[in-house]
Amino acid sequence: MSTDRRKFLKHLGTSVLLTSASLNSFAAREENEIRLLRAQKRITPNDKIRIATVGMGIMGFNDTNAALTSPGVELVGVADLYKGRLARAKEVYGASLFTTDDYRDLILRKDIDAIIVATSDNWHSQISIDAMRAGKAVYSEKPMVHQISQGLAEIQAQKETKMVFQVGSQRVSSIAYRKAKEMYEAGAIGKINSIEASFNRQDALGAWQYTIPLDQSVQTVNWARFQSNAKEKVDYDPKRFFRWRNYREYGTGVAGDLFVHLLSGIHLITGSKGPEKIYSIGDLSYWKDGRNVPDVMSAVVHYGDTKEHPAFQVTLRVNFVSGDGGSSTTKIVGSEGVIDLGGEGEGFTIRKNKLPEAPGIGGWDSLFTYTEAQQKALLDDYNKRWKEDKRNRQKFPDVVYKAPDDYNASNDHFANFFDSMRNGTKVVEDAVFGFRAAAPALACNDSYFENKVVRWDAHNMKIIV
Ligand SMILES: NC(=O)c1ccc[n+]([C@@H]2O[C@H](COP(=O)([O-])OP(=O)(O)OC[C@H]3O[C@@H](n4cnc5c(N)ncnc54)[C@H](O)[C@@H]3O)[C@@H](O)[C@H]2O)c1
Repeated sequence: MSTDRRKFLKHLGTSVLLTSASLNSFAAREENEIRLLRAQKRITPNDKIRIATVGMGIMGFNDTNAALTSPGVELVGVADLYKGRLARAKEVYGASLFTTDDYRDLILRKDIDAIIVATSDNWHSQISIDAMRAGKAVYSEKPMVHQISQGLAEIQAQKETKMVFQVGSQRVSSIAYRKAKEMYEAGAIGKINSIEASFNRQDALGAWQYTIPLDQSVQTVNWARFQSNAKEKVDYDPKRFFRWRNYREYGTGVAGDLFVHLLSGIHLITGSKGPEKIYSIGDLSYWKDGRNVPDVMSAVVHYGDTKEHPAFQVTLRVNFVSGDGGSSTTKIVGSEGVIDLGGEGEGFTIRKNKLPEAPGIGGWDSLFTYTEAQQKALLDDYNKRWKEDKRNRQKFPDVVYKAPDDYNASNDHFANFFDSMRNGTKVVEDAVFGFRAAAPALACNDSYFENKVVRWDAHNMKIIV
């Protein structure tokens, strides 16, 4: 898109905020422009990017499909530890697809440019580092690491290899979150002071009880490799393999799985490097299926006053047995308004109110408890001091922004990754950004399991002991 066109759209967004009209049609138009331009890009054989995906579960297929919406991208091979998923990948992408249960077979191939890491959390860091050291660009699913202690080494590997590296929290590329950031920076809600963010779910699949295939066994699953980096080894258990999220040994609980999305969105919009203090509580309230992580978890996270933003508080909650049904929200509260966001494919509403200048008198007040004479004198004085227009809270019409119906933030996140590979532009979610979102999310687990407040040095990305 031309710079002029971008400027125009940007200006349009801001002026629409001021007049409080709906942003729907503008959002759709802007998105459409970007899509058209992307589709028109001519790709020469030299520009072709050849990718391979490690971990062909739900996200492996979703990420691969999102990657393939970018022009000039070709899938060469996949790795997975369950034979059925390798067979499925051939059904979907063609019988000539290279498949293996050892990701090293992919990263050592000279004809592969980029690796998507879509395994369970326990493997993200090792595969990403190995792939970067083998000269591959890497798109790693979130959370970037399984343990906070892995973060700095991964950042270092990226710095040393200079390989393009993007973490897969697609809301960082979401059209709605980017527009919300623009509005926030334009002062739409005044001075930020707090954020409430949550995921509510009320179904077994949402609580990670995914379907297990009938042919699962030690013959079809490479269980030894799956748990090879776990401290304690246990006998094969299909639930531990196919529902790994429920076990801390391989997953990161609701904090690493979902708080990290919330924090990524919050850091994008506020420009924050991260919080300074983290405390969380949790319960295993309903899904008592052998899991060792809570199904309801809340955290209070404090962000200090920095050059990027004033101090603000964040409350995070995931509830897998919520009578509220299914919903996700991020409510950014400022002194003069609220940005109320849904998921990354949705949109947001800005509600705006301004504090009245007059302090108020009467109503739910102590005024009526004084003598008639006192009340009259106080009211006379008040009315003299405060004109009518200063007495009420100023309310503005809502601003509503909606992403286009078929919008998919992952497609944009991958487009950004491939642009960086081709043109050397910066990725939107590099290792530092990814770790600064992952570490406080994982610190929520440490706080809950160790019953302590965690102090975090967001600038240097270190736990303060
Ligand atoms: N960005 C998002 O919105 C989003 C959504 C869902 C999941 N995720 C992330 O994607 C990742 C995958 O989640 P999922 O739901 O697809 O899990 P899944 O269980 O469906 O798939 C994971 C696959 O990884 C494979 N695997 C594990 N270790 C491996 C190894 N060493 N080598 C090769 N393959 C290996 C397993 O065999 C399995 O098939 C998780 O880290 C999760 O946090 C991200």
